[in-house]
Amino acid sequence: MPSVSPLPPEPDADRPLLDGIERVLNERELVIVSNRGPVTFAHQDDGTFSARKGSGGVVTAVTAVASEHQPIWIAAAMTDGDRIRAEVARREGEGLIDFGSPPEFRLRFVVTEPDRYHKYYNVISNPLLWFLQHYLWDTPRSPDITHEIWDAWNDGYVEVNRLFASEVLAACEECSGEPVVMLQDYHLYLCAGFIRKQKPNAVLQHFVHIPWPDPDYWRLLPLAMRRDICEGMLGNDIVGFQTQEHARSFMYTCEAYVESAQIDYSSSRVTWQGRHTEVRVYPISIDTASVRRTAYGKEARAHDRYLPNYWNEFTVLRVDRAEPSKNIVRGFQAFDRFLEAHKEFQGRVNFVAITVPSRMDVLEYQDYLDDVSAVVGRINAKYANVETGWQPIHLIMGENYPRALAAMKWYDVLLVNSIIDGMNLVAKEGALLNERNGVLILSEGAGAVSQLGDAAIIIAPADVEGTADAIFQALTMPLDERRRRAEALRRSVEVDDVTAWFRDQISDIVRYATGLRTGQEANLVVETGRGATTADA
Ligand code: G6P
Repeated sequence: MPSVSPLPPEPDADRPLLDGIERVLNERELVIVSNRGPVTFAHQDDGTFSARKGSGGVVTAVTAVASEHQPIWIAAAMTDGDRIRAEVARREGEGLIDFGSPPEFRLRFVVTEPDRYHKYYNVISNPLLWFLQHYLWDTPRSPDITHEIWDAWNDGYVEVNRLFASEVLAACEECSGEPVVMLQDYHLYLCAGFIRKQKPNAVLQHFVHIPWPDPDYWRLLPLAMRRDICEGMLGNDIVGFQTQEHARSFMYTCEAYVESAQIDYSSSRVTWQGRHTEVRVYPISIDTASVRRTAYGKEARAHDRYLPNYWNEFTVLRVDRAEPSKNIVRGFQAFDRFLEAHKEFQGRVNFVAITVPSRMDVLEYQDYLDDVSAVVGRINAKYANVETGWQPIHLIMGENYPRALAAMKWYDVLLVNSIIDGMNLVAKEGALLNERNGVLILSEGAGAVSQLGDAAIIIAPADVEGTADAIFQALTMPLDERRRRAEALRRSVEVDDVTAWFRDQISDIVRYATGLRTGQEANLVVETGRGATTADA
């Protein structure tokens, strides 16, 4: 039986809600559904499997909070090892694959033909949806919705979503009561719609980790696609976003493209085909205790020894996946401009960029990584000093989480200039870990701005000149002000860590979806002779 996490003391008025949360977590199974699973398997020569915890924002956040409830986790088999592991589980009648001891979660793989998975993941999810939701398309030229895209949509995205839905339904069958199903991110927009058709009383919630653009921009997709996406999402009891702006854009998009959807903006609710979908905001955060543990753990300490070689009197740091939305190239251009305008800093400041290659099967990402390398080469060639050996930019490539956290302890400036970002957890990790009263330069397009904006220097992401000025302002800021800002940033992250993100979602599930009433309406579907209708409990 899933255990209950300790809840913070709250006033008595909240007692029914707190009881409801405990009851939900005690009595119901949690089913987490995400494309990337919490673990990947490799098949060894001796026939055994080795398992590695997965990477990425979704997995890190969800594992941090959900594992103490031993959820069922439904995820795509992404590697050959996963596929073989899933096959072994199927052959041996092992319904769920236990991971961890004691088990942290019970895994169920969705296995698809590689070609279909490619269409769903490498053609539709990344880049089509990712680029659309981050406003990254160069619209006069792309995207072209060709026959291949339509095929990838119908035969890839739709079908893989259908497969995920049937795995969820199969998992629900094995649960004693009605589980709480928590869907994650842009790979699975159609899933709730498919599940709802089969299971009108399912408790379904979907959290979108990335931005949700305005309806006009969604028009880059043909109506049938954008409408299916919205209608699929309206199969949920609750949909969650990182910011108010994204939540509002979702409602505008439903209003624009879903026939007869009624939007109540004041209560953030969409009603369609007799059902309500609550639209809520849950800014994601980090697991502060675990981030600190890793940053000061044995592995990170090994990096502590040589990382300072990259440092200088002043150090600007950035840490990102090599991802067009992160705006890495403009960040370097701004640094170039800063060095040009403030020659006194030449030789005294280093820009350290820890860059993780990402989605290398997608052409746009390969090209972007080439652009990043080219701009670094150009700027280093322009300024490098052969006599002193100084070069301005140090690009450290590769995925190594303890190393990235180790580096965050010592920056003077952290540059987060994303074009647009669901949240940006690097900003939060840096705020928590930095020991030098480092200044955060933060893009106004990052979701983190709503929580950290007051204590950061805010920039417009395309403003190269403004970003160069911000670097100068940060490097010359008086210590008192740096300290005041750094403390405010740290406090903000400590107060709203990832447990708050999770608890707020469960408490809304209690309020709106499970019928454990706290005075507001919940969806209770009543079976009638004419099919399912909705009644307010
Ligand atoms: C980032 C985003 C997540 C997304 C993930 C997918 O971490 O913040 O919202 O789900 O990328 O990454 P992947 O490597 O699985 O394609």
